[in-house]
Amino acid sequence: MTPDSFNFLAGLVKVRSGIVLTADKGYMLETRLGPMLRREAIAGLDALALRLRGAKAEALTAEMVEALTTNESSFFRDGKPFEHLKKLLPRLAAARPPGQAIRIWSAACSSGQEAYSIAITAAELGAALSGRRVEILGTDLSKEMLERAREGIFTQFEVQRGLPVQMLVKHFKQEGTRWRITPELRAMVRWQSFNLLDDLRGLGRFDVVFCRNVLIYFDAPTKSRVLAALAGQVAADGVVYLGGAETVLGLTDRLVPAAGERGVYEPARQAARVG
Ligand SMILES: C[S@@+](CC[C@H](N)C(=O)[O-])C[C@H]1O[C@@H](n2cnc3c(N)ncnc32)[C@H](O)[C@@H]1O
Repeated sequence: MTPDSFNFLAGLVKVRSGIVLTADKGYMLETRLGPMLRREAIAGLDALALRLRGAKAEALTAEMVEALTTNESSFFRDGKPFEHLKKLLPRLAAARPPGQAIRIWSAACSSGQEAYSIAITAAELGAALSGRRVEILGTDLSKEMLERAREGIFTQFEVQRGLPVQMLVKHFKQEGTRWRITPELRAMVRWQSFNLLDDLRGLGRFDVVFCRNVLIYFDAPTKSRVLAALAGQVAADGVVYLGGAETVLGLTDRLVPAAGERGVYEPARQAARVG
């Protein structure tokens, strides 16, 4: 692939998704886009760049971007955020009027493990939520991942990663070698295709946002923009969870680290904000 083709393809991916592909990622393009190239009978990455420069390339462009997302996920990933959520939810429930649902957003939800881990956490709290409903929204750029998430079926390997066995038998039904989430938990989550670079305001306000292990793929200005937009959608007493390798420091002053917690951020109080 010529440097010109690489720059063009990487530029397209960045504009469409925020994902930054550094010059050493040529091999990744080759391996991840191989199946798509073969299916479309496109000779290689230079030929793909040529096709995408032309008209009527929208569907192919979207397909390329999706193929370049990293969709790694697992149940109760990193543990800590879900332990924190377990303590937070009863507090939020007590602070909300009866009849008002607690809204939680799994932004960049991939194949759904994060959103279902939230659903399990809420279901296990039961009476501690004083009858408050928990509504979970799972969104992702990848339509393929959303389909998988919506289906709610996981392999033995997937459920073995992070899901305690008593939760597995309680909240999933075995179907051959795979496990299907119960209809009750599935009904707690709504799935929607959504790009984090788009205007978040249409999604409404959330009490809790999980935006984990996606900002790592963005450059600093994009991270800043997304974090500031997220802060605008979170309730004043709500929180944003970020991944272990992600932070708000140096990126936005609209979210501040929660005292004594890693990966947990709260909306900054108006008066405390700089600038
Ligand atoms: C590594 S997964 C993280 C999944 C889950 N949050 C977790 O921590 O286990 C990253 C996800 O971000 C999604 N993604 C990447 N860029 C995105 C964007 N601009 N808007 C929405 N989702 C995006 C990818 O499709 C992928 O499913």
